[in-house]
Amino acid sequence: MRARRLPSAVAATIVATLVGGAPGSGAAARDEAPAAPVSFHRQVLPLLTARCAGCHQPAKAGGEIVLVSHATLAASRADGEPLVVAGQPDASALLASVLPRGERPPKMPKKGEPLAEREVALLRDWIAQGALDDTPAGAALPFSAEQPPTYAQLPVVTSLDFAPGGGLLAVPGYHEVLLWDVAADGSAATLAGRLVGMSERIQAVAFSPDGTRLAAVGGSPGRFGEVQLWDVAGRKLERSLLLGGDTLYGGSWSPDGRLLAFGGGDASVRALDVATGELVFFNAASEDLALDTAFSKEGSHLVSVGRDRALKLFQVATQQFLDNITSITPGALKGGLQVVDRQPGEDVLLIGGADGQPKTYKMHRTQKRVIGDDFNHVKSYAPLPGRLFACEYAPDGTLFVAGASHHRRGEVRLYAVADEAPRWSLPFDGAIYAATFRGDGALVAAAGFSGEIVLIDAATGQPRQRFAAAPLPADAARSPRAEGRP
Ligand code: HEC
Repeated sequence: MRARRLPSAVAATIVATLVGGAPGSGAAARDEAPAAPVSFHRQVLPLLTARCAGCHQPAKAGGEIVLVSHATLAASRADGEPLVVAGQPDASALLASVLPRGERPPKMPKKGEPLAEREVALLRDWIAQGALDDTPAGAALPFSAEQPPTYAQLPVVTSLDFAPGGGLLAVPGYHEVLLWDVAADGSAATLAGRLVGMSERIQAVAFSPDGTRLAAVGGSPGRFGEVQLWDVAGRKLERSLLLGGDTLYGGSWSPDGRLLAFGGGDASVRALDVATGELVFFNAASEDLALDTAFSKEGSHLVSVGRDRALKLFQVATQQFLDNITSITPGALKGGLQVVDRQPGEDVLLIGGADGQPKTYKMHRTQKRVIGDDFNHVKSYAPLPGRLFACEYAPDGTLFVAGASHHRRGEVRLYAVADEAPRWSLPFDGAIYAATFRGDGALVAAAGFSGEIVLIDAATGQPRQRFAAAPLPADAARSPRAEGRP
């Protein structure tokens, strides 16, 4: 979608071969034919990532055991001993931990379903074959708080959120969320924290309503999706939920802070009970990527938007799909929807997408659907050039901000809910993907392709300050991506 080039995405081609003469005795000792060679990178690592890494990762405390790469596995210890003895599956704590203990279930994964037989066999065969490492050179290094990512160029910024009642601004980076402390008058920003996690890309950041937690929703494309829940004051990862095979999108909190909803590349919408880590809502009614979500003001309903063009309404308690809020008439919707926000205090939804036009809809239908009607539609606003990526209400619900991309140029506008025409608009060199209000409504932060964050006076539309989303080494060009712009 929003393609970005990053240092570790550089293709790596050297792959160690895994043929013949593996020192393992395990396979040979068995009567059956020797097992097919097992690839750590393609088979073992995805299994460890999906089933173990939520707990065994660098961002988790007590990290004696880190199962995110061959190197971290090799360095991990249980009772001071390595987890894997090459060639000896039955002497390896890694294998022992996933095997049943007599009548008792396997110790690991803690609190999860035991591994399937073929998954256990995969680990056994890999260890028996010598526990070899075929990780391509240059494949993602596991970053940690002690070894944070470094940047050769600024990250594309796909989301922004201010902590309620403060100046702390969350900004997705590469393998991390950066926390910037913005001065009250918007004239300066200082780096106040780096929340380094497993996901290569964070698609959405959202503070809980009370500001104590930060949700970061994303993943590593083609590998896994992840929801991270951070304790903001302690800068600590409370929970990592690994799901599916692709990135997740559009995290939003229920008004009581109990649930976190998000969409997925598999077209599903899900919600997580934050306290227990259980998935309490799942619906796959969408037909394409579900990109953003929002709860009703009571938290009883949930909506999603996505590439299938629909604004879908669900009931949280029953997990049922209730309605397509936008018209279902063929041709009535032009292109996919990207973003949805609910008006503070009202069940009115603001949506934006491919046609560049912010529109509002009532969440609940008060009259039976007639084919072709667009009954819930409230108002359409003057369209921005290009495609809308950001739409967000001001905290008091009387204004909203919209951000767009058009042939790689961007624009941010501020609208009053009552007026079709914008109050102000501000053009940018690069596409805008994110825009958000500070809790007091006086400041807007916007960012996108260039990786530069702009702080704007909400009353006048005047920029107050621009700063780089991530720390660059002193010798790096400030905005090298500018070369790629038209
Ligand atoms: C829900 C969190 C969680 C998950 C998921 C999880 N672990 Fe653990 N694991 C722990 C904790 C916590 C410990 C520390 C010892 C304990 O509390 O039992 C641990 C300890 C271990 C140990 C140390 C030796 C032992 O048996 O106590 C091994 C090996 C291990 N885990 C392997 C795995 C593997 C392999 C997976 C995936 C198949 C996995 N774990 C999934 C939380 C988890």
